[in-house]
Amino acid sequence: MAQALELITGRLPVIAAAILVCAAAYLLPRLANLVRLYNIPVVGKEIGGEEKRRNAYLAGARKLYNDGYKKFKDTAFRISTSRTSSVIVLPPKYLPELSKLPDTVLSMTAAVDESMETKYLKIDTYIPVVPHLITRQLTPALIRLNPMISREVSELLKIEIPPSDDWKEYNAHDKLLRIITQVSGRLFVGPELSRNETYIDTAINYTMDVMKGQRAVQKMRPWKRPFMVSKMPEIKNLYKRIDEADAFLAPLVTLRKKMTSEGFEGERPDDMLQWLIDAQEKFDDPVSRDTAKVQLGLTFAAIHTTTLTAMNAFYNLAASQEFVGVLRQEIEQVLADNDGLFTSRALQAMKKLDSFLKETLRMNPATMAAFQRKVLQPFSLTNGQQIPAGVTVEVPAVAVNFDPTIFPEPERFDPLRFTKVVEQAAGSEGTKFAALNQFVSVNQNSLTFGYGRHACPGRFFAANEIKMLIGHTVLHYDIKLVDGVSDRYPNLEFAHMSIPDPSKNLLFRKRTT
Ligand code: HEM
Ligand SMILES: *[C@@H]1O[C@H](CO)[C@@H](O)[C@H](O)[C@H]1NC(C)=O
Ligand SMILES: *[C@@H]1O[C@H](CO)[C@@H](O)[C@H](O)[C@H]1NC(C)=O
Repeated sequence: MAQALELITGRLPVIAAAILVCAAAYLLPRLANLVRLYNIPVVGKEIGGEEKRRNAYLAGARKLYNDGYKKFKDTAFRISTSRTSSVIVLPPKYLPELSKLPDTVLSMTAAVDESMETKYLKIDTYIPVVPHLITRQLTPALIRLNPMISREVSELLKIEIPPSDDWKEYNAHDKLLRIITQVSGRLFVGPELSRNETYIDTAINYTMDVMKGQRAVQKMRPWKRPFMVSKMPEIKNLYKRIDEADAFLAPLVTLRKKMTSEGFEGERPDDMLQWLIDAQEKFDDPVSRDTAKVQLGLTFAAIHTTTLTAMNAFYNLAASQEFVGVLRQEIEQVLADNDGLFTSRALQAMKKLDSFLKETLRMNPATMAAFQRKVLQPFSLTNGQQIPAGVTVEVPAVAVNFDPTIFPEPERFDPLRFTKVVEQAAGSEGTKFAALNQFVSVNQNSLTFGYGRHACPGRFFAANEIKMLIGHTVLHYDIKLVDGVSDRYPNLEFAHMSIPDPSKNLLFRKRTT
């Protein structure tokens, strides 16, 4: 005993030094990180301290993003948000250099996991097979599937909004959500389930359930979360939803596997479910192999994003009656040249429709900040600013969209803004401009679909779906805002979100002119 004590005291300086070294190794990078962080200026100082700035952000962050963008121009700035980590806003001019950084430095998944509290929800945000299937299968398949998608859109429009001689009022959100869920479902799970109410309910409500779970977790004090979360009704509900999805997809998967196994001679189903069954073996992560989770992940990424964009477009259309006529003319003309079908070629030729939708995205971006990434390792911008690990970075998309040096008269909704830009650029410039100014274009001035290697892979499908939805609507219906209202329904803004008001109705009737 005494010997042991002696041994320890004898070595005390060594142990103390070791502890010091360990502490320094632990603290110094953190200290360095803090120094880097506090070297970055803050937007909204005039509002007051951290808490006040956070509340200003939650009430609607548009002004903060605009102020920071103007004030700091070429440098990074900090913004107080509802995130647990600090957030640094970066000027879009750094996007090309940022997109070169590997996922081990800038992580999209880690950013999503943090904001969604996925650790507690036990849902999976990284499902490798999903972007793979969208990019390798869905997008190239659009050329052959467009006529089918168009038929689906047309049929579902008639079912959900039966053409009537009198004006009839419908809740825009409910109707568009149901149509988009079923059209997308036709490509995701196939014709067996896409119009089944159980499927529709799951595809729609899963996202809501995730959001409810996320809010419930965020309301709970962090130290309680590890013990209490799984007992919360919102979380139990989410797990129940996943089990249900599993239960009703399983028989179809079994059937498909049996049907398409050896000796199968019929027509192979042409949808995500089948492509998934065929590709699954190549993926060894457990989530890619879990058909229900893949399907739920898909609906999470696809359904509400597309619906919100379509709602914004419908509200803009209903508020600009003269433009309805312009669109009809273009669409009829193009269809006449394409055997009456919404083929890929026809969609390409509907330039005014594309410009209208792009202007919709510019005026009404669903989120004010784009390219949200968690910083896993510190790095420097080419202007010398150091970005510490542990923060989240993002780009102020909303400020870019309303920058008058990029988009003259940015407050004006000009549906033909992007066709004019292309027409005004002559010759080879024209081709370059055309590529930069499409609805699906992703670049420093078009950030609604993100940027870089994780930019939305589903945007080509979403674009076609929304175009067909608008196309069939103007061909077969008159549409307007409810009586007594002449201005577009304003979006609801909170924190970094701007969403079309889901409580509003639109009037539809069978086309008269
Ligand atoms: C108009 C509708 C849509 C909008 C506004 C939208 C927006 C976005 C955004 C902002 C991102 C993040 C990109 C980044 O941070 O760089 C994203 C990613 C993603 N989106 Fe979309 N999206 C839409 C439709 C869809 C559809 C229809 C699908 C599926 C068919 C889809 C599948 C995905 C997937 C899988 C990712 C993750 C990509 C990755 O992990 O690399 N999205 N989307
Ligand atoms: C799904 O959501 C809708 C709208 O919020 C709700 O009316 C419906 O009851 C939900 N269904 C289930 C099974 O939770
Ligand atoms: C919807 O799908 C479920 C699960 O496969 C099935 O039990 C139900 O009968 C289907 N409903 C209709 C109307 O086909």
